[in-house]
Amino acid sequence: MTNVRHLLSLRDLSVAEVTDIARRGTEIAADPGVCGTPLRGRIVGVYFRVTSTRTRTAFSTAAMRLGAQVMPYGPADLQLNTGETVADTARVLSGMLDGLVARTAGPFDELRTLAGQKDMAVVNAMNEDEHPTQALADLTTLLTRFPSLDGVRVLYVGEGNNTAVALARSLPLFRGAELELRTPPGYGLDPAVLAEARGLAEAHGSRVVERHDMHGLPARVDAVYTTRWQTTGTSKADPEWREVFSLFTVDTDLMGRYPDAVFLHDLPAHRGDEVTAEVLDGPSSIAFEQAQNKLHSAMAVLEWCLS
Ligand code: CP
Repeated sequence: MTNVRHLLSLRDLSVAEVTDIARRGTEIAADPGVCGTPLRGRIVGVYFRVTSTRTRTAFSTAAMRLGAQVMPYGPADLQLNTGETVADTARVLSGMLDGLVARTAGPFDELRTLAGQKDMAVVNAMNEDEHPTQALADLTTLLTRFPSLDGVRVLYVGEGNNTAVALARSLPLFRGAELELRTPPGYGLDPAVLAEARGLAEAHGSRVVERHDMHGLPARVDAVYTTRWQTTGTSKADPEWREVFSLFTVDTDLMGRYPDAVFLHDLPAHRGDEVTAEVLDGPSSIAFEQAQNKLHSAMAVLEWCLS
C-alpha cells in the first residue's frame, strides 16, 4: 500500500479535514454500521507505551469493526527497549503493518520518525505535546449537541496539557467559536501554542483567551471542559502544586452559572480534584458519551488514514 495519511498533529490538517473527520464521527455514532468493513485484510498495530483505557480500546475496537486485524504492543514489547532505532523500527513495521496507532508520551520527533515512510499510517494516540484524537472525539461530541462548531463557546478549566493543546489547535478553526482557558498560574499553555491558537483565531474569526484565575468568567458558554490534574505519563516537580490547582475545580457553583451548558471531561477523572462527583455524574455531564465517541471518532480517523 502507498500514500496512506498520517495523523500526528491537528496542525497538519485543514479546516475541511478536521470538519469532515468530526462530522463522520457523528454519522458513525448515529449508525455504527454505516462504514461497512473497508479495512478488511488490513493489519493495524496498536502500540501504547503508557496506560490507556479509552484511546487504546477505541482504536483497537475501531480497527476490528472496520474489518482490520489488530497487532497489540505493550510498553515492553518492541526492540526499541533494547536500543533498536525508531527509524529502523518504522522501516520494519511499515513492511508488515498498514497502520500504527501509537501513544509514546514522548516528543514529536519520535512520531515523525515513525511516520517517515508512506506505507504505514501513523496515528498519534497522545504524545507529551498533543492529544489530537481526543480533540477530534470532543468535536464529534459537540456536533452531537450543537448544529455546527461555528460559534461554539468552550470554557476550559485546568492545566494547559496535551488535551488543551489539541483543543487550541482545532476549535479556533471555526468561525465565531470561543475558547476561554482558565489555567493555574505556571501551568498554562505553552506560549508558542497560545500564539499559534491566537493566529488561528485571527485567521478564522474566532476567539482564544487564556487567564490564570477564575475571576471575570464569561457570561455565557456552551460547554465547560476539564481534564485530570495529573496528565497520563507526567508528574509535577512542585510538591505544592495542588494548592495552585485547588481554585480550578469544576463544581456545581461553576456549572450553576451556565445552566444550559454541557460538561465535558476527557477522562479518566479524579472526583474531588478537577471535578466534583455532583458535576461529573450530574445532568449536565456528557463525559461518558464523550468517551464512547472516542470509538466513533477512532473509526472516522482510521477510515481517513487508511481507506
Ligand atoms: N482520554 C484518554 O485519552 O483516555 P485514556 O488515557 O484512557 O486513553
